[in-house]
Amino acid sequence: MGYKAKFRVWRGEGGEGQLEDFTVEVNEGEVVLDVIHRLQATQAPDLAVRWNCKAGKCGSCSMEINGRPRLGCMTRMSTFEETETITVTPMRTFPVIKDLVCDVSFNYQKAREIPSFTPPKDVKPGEYRMQQIDVERSQEFRKCIECFMCNNVCHVIRDHDENKPAFAGPRFLMRIAELDMHPYDELDRKESAQEEHGLGYCNITKCCTEVCPEHIKITDNALIPMKERVVDRKYDPLVWLGSKIFKR
Ligand code: SF4
Ligand code: F3S
Ligand code: FES
Repeated sequence: MGYKAKFRVWRGEGGEGQLEDFTVEVNEGEVVLDVIHRLQATQAPDLAVRWNCKAGKCGSCSMEINGRPRLGCMTRMSTFEETETITVTPMRTFPVIKDLVCDVSFNYQKAREIPSFTPPKDVKPGEYRMQQIDVERSQEFRKCIECFMCNNVCHVIRDHDENKPAFAGPRFLMRIAELDMHPYDELDRKESAQEEHGLGYCNITKCCTEVCPEHIKITDNALIPMKERVVDRKYDPLVWLGSKIFKR
């Protein structure tokens, strides 16, 4: 059965804005993004919201719903009481362009700072041989849909713009870990992870893992192992060399 929900939505641009109240119809089976679209269609035609797939796969519709980062297209209205006021705001860590749309270019900048996969020059395509365990490890990380909610929620940059130049955020520290664990990647990424991409800023609060819509164990499977690799490397460079040679 349909009902009328109370929505409080952030409206604004250019660094200024405020929460605005709306009462909007909700039908059975709908998600928050459906209700935002109905708001656009009936009451706020200039409301800006970013979305693409409506299937939890493009990572575009990240927003904060009652203060928690969520995908608008995957958050069922049945999660909430019908009498509850639902507050929808843009991701807090990135500058707002308009209403619910953020400028997430910080993340693309961080992606560009990571050197790409660097296989040995003498191994040709078709000659790669990997153990199944190495394939499975990187497959977990490759489920990432780049919603950037993990970077949004990490306290290192959430309210600390000053840390942004030195910290890649969990999404890209995970990418570095994935490459470092790859048996055919020739770069030693441990020093740069620590010195250039800010691995040392992470104090394992695990908020990133909690919000990941793909349920990737970012902290346990990427960040902590990467920290262990950095420590091993610091005390014994042969550990790194051995791990590359014996994994092949
Ligand atoms: Fe989103 Fe998870 Fe990828 Fe982070 S790791 S960007 S939370 S899908
Ligand atoms: Fe931040 Fe995740 Fe580490 S939330 S502090 S990157 S465990
Ligand atoms: Fe693609 Fe929500 S619209 S993840």
